[in-house]
Order: sequence, then C-alpha cells, then structure tokens
Amino acid sequence: MSASVRHILLGVTGGIAAYKSAELVRRLKEQGAEVQVVMTQGARKFVTELTFQALSGKAVRSDIWDHSAEAAMGHIELARWAHEVIIAPASADFIARLAHGMADDLLTTMCLATKAPISIAPAMNHVMWNHPATQTNINILKQRGVQVLGPAEGDQACGETGLGRMLEPAQIIQALDNGRGPPVFAGVKAVVTAGPTREKLDPVRFITNRSSGKMGFAVASALRDAGADVVLISGPVTLPTPQNVTRVNVESAAQMLHAVQQHIHDTQLFIATAAVSDYCAAKIADEKIKKSSESLQLQLARTPDILAAVSASEQRPFLVGFAAETENVERNALGKLTAKRLDMIAANKVGEGLAFDCDDNALTVYWHGGKQELCKCSKQDLARQLVQLINERYCSQPKSNKESE
Ligand code: C5P
Repeated sequence: MSASVRHILLGVTGGIAAYKSAELVRRLKEQGAEVQVVMTQGARKFVTELTFQALSGKAVRSDIWDHSAEAAMGHIELARWAHEVIIAPASADFIARLAHGMADDLLTTMCLATKAPISIAPAMNHVMWNHPATQTNINILKQRGVQVLGPAEGDQACGETGLGRMLEPAQIIQALDNGRGPPVFAGVKAVVTAGPTREKLDPVRFITNRSSGKMGFAVASALRDAGADVVLISGPVTLPTPQNVTRVNVESAAQMLHAVQQHIHDTQLFIATAAVSDYCAAKIADEKIKKSSESLQLQLARTPDILAAVSASEQRPFLVGFAAETENVERNALGKLTAKRLDMIAANKVGEGLAFDCDDNALTVYWHGGKQELCKCSKQDLARQLVQLINERYCSQPKSNKESE
C-alpha cells in the first residue's frame, strides 16, 4: 500500500441520509482513497452492509465484539490506520455520544482511539438540530477541533423544512478539501498562547480579562490540521483540549512566560493569541485584603511581555501577534508589528459581538508591506484562513529562517 494513499474511515450512523453515503464512498474511491466503512446499529436499519462493502471493496465493520473481524484488524489498529475520519450522516445521538467521550460501540470507540482528524456531516430533523443540547454538543466538538460540515437547509424526510439536511456528497468532499487543505506545516513545531492570564492580588482575588481562549484554541486546531506539532499554552479557560495538541495550563503572565521558554526551543512558529494581563500586583498580599478604608489604592507592576521576549531571543521563530483594540485599530496594530518586531499581526476591534468571549470574530492581518481582511465568521473558519495566510508569509521568508528545513 503506497504511503500517499488516503486512508479514510467513514462512519455511517442511523439516519435516512445514510443512503447518500453510498455515493460518498464512490466519490472518495474515485479520488483514489481507501475507504473503510464502520456502521452503527442504527445505520444498518437504513442501508445494508452489502451496499457499502460492494462500493468500498472492504468488509464493513459494525460490531466491536466481532471476533473474526477483530482478528483481521483490531479496532485500535483500524483507528491507527485511518488518516481521516468522516462521519456522514452524523445523527443527534451520535453527536451527543462523541461530545461526551462515550465508547459504547465500535464507531465511538474508534473516534476515541484515533489521532486522525474527525469531520462530521450532521443530519437530523431541524428541531433536533436547533435543540440547545445538540447545539451545545456541536460547540464542544468544534472547540475540540472536529470539523462540522453543514447541515444544509431545505426539505426534510420528516416532511418539514429547515436546517438539518445532510450536505450532498459532492459538497462534503468540497468542504473537506477546503477545510483541511494540504499538511503545509508537516514537520513544523508551533507554540500558541491562548486565553487570559490571572494575576493574584491576595489569596482570594485576582486581576483578569474577558478572554475565553476560543480564538487561540481554534488557531491551535487549525495548525494541527495543517500538520504542525502544536503546543498550546493556555491561561484559565473552560475549553476542552483540541485532539492531538499538547496543552500546558498556566495562570499568570510570569508562568506563561516560563512555559513558553520551556517549549520555544526548536519552534518555527509562535502565535501569541493570549490576552496577557499588562499589570500584576507589585506585591501579592499574604492575607485577604480587608475593607478598612473608603478607598483602596493598589500598587501594580508591569508583567513581562512574552511576545517581545521571544522576538528578542536568539533563535527567533516566525512571530504572529494579536491586537485587540477598542480604537485606532490599524495604527495600534502597525505600531505593535514594528515595536515587537513581528512577522504578522492579526488585529480586531473589540465589541459588537466580536472578539472577547464570542464565537465569531473578524480580523485584519498586517505584515510588512501588506494586509488582508478576514471577514466576520466563526473563530474556527477564521483560524483556518489565518493559518493559510501564515503559511503564505512563512513560505516567503528566506530559507535560513525556517529552522526545520
Ligand atoms: O497587549 P498587547 O496589545 O501589547 O498584545 C499584543 C500581542 O502581544 C498579543 O499577541 C499578546 O499575546 C502579546 N503579549 C504578550 N505578553 C504581554 C502582552 C502582550 O505576549 N505581556
């Protein structure tokens, strides 16, 4: 088997759209991929295993307790074999089980056991799709780096109309091609900082900001999808760790600097999305500060500038900064690009459903001699576009700057 052949594990779950997945297998095979179909028990009620076996040329797997199939290629081996996992259709039940890390059938077990990127094409009744439980599960999966393809709007098998139709096979293939792109950063190590920092004032209080970490986590996932080996250094956030990303948790700016210094060695890319606190307590009080007087003055000191420190280091990686501004976005961003000697800076105006603690964002990316607007969309889509731009600029550097090559 040639190393360049794509190994696709196609999961089919219980929904009427399962019949369209037969066409998906045919198209993936036409592209030269090897396709191993895994069906849930629900899927087998809609389409027979024989259909998928005939189209894929491989015996369909559906039972984790099937000894003869396990003897041929065990489920862990199969999970390792896969370069990509596509679940189409993905039912509401399957999405819920995947979001909560269940391993109660062959398909969910393989999704837990694989390091391959996972894409899902949801298909369900529009009320089920819009249910807060499903939307929460979808958000969990997106934040974990699962690519969600669709669903589309239109007539549904139940006779109603709305959002919940599975994308057509050709659209799924197109979305997969657009979404993942080639592994342009294979062999590249990237360090990403994300989230806020927390600067202690006393044993119970701290200074922090509204950063959710969503943008940084999305950037880490997009870099991983582009083949990079990613270390994500995060302040306190409530997000799940993206699959196949090494996460380091920190609290303060000083701890974040320390963690960056521990991991920056041999790094070719450093993306600073963290909203690092500019000030910390000059001295952290040993005991809880009492409310004794009418007003209280806090003595604050500057925190270390992590990005500037990496920029000043001897083996300076390719540097991308972020600038969240409430005014004069362009002027401030360009000032930081120069002052911190960055290769690129992604700037955005805070507010109006953008930037801090939102699911959507819009960015203007600047580099020396150029700029590009990235319009408002989900942070996952934005991160993918940003990674493409970083790749373009990274590749235009002189060869000597790219340590890995
Ligand atoms: O806070 P400022 O606007 O200067 O942030 C610009 C960039 O510098 C961001 O990428 C941020 O992550 C980084 N930064 C940092 N350490 C700081 C302050 C900012 O790495 N102490």
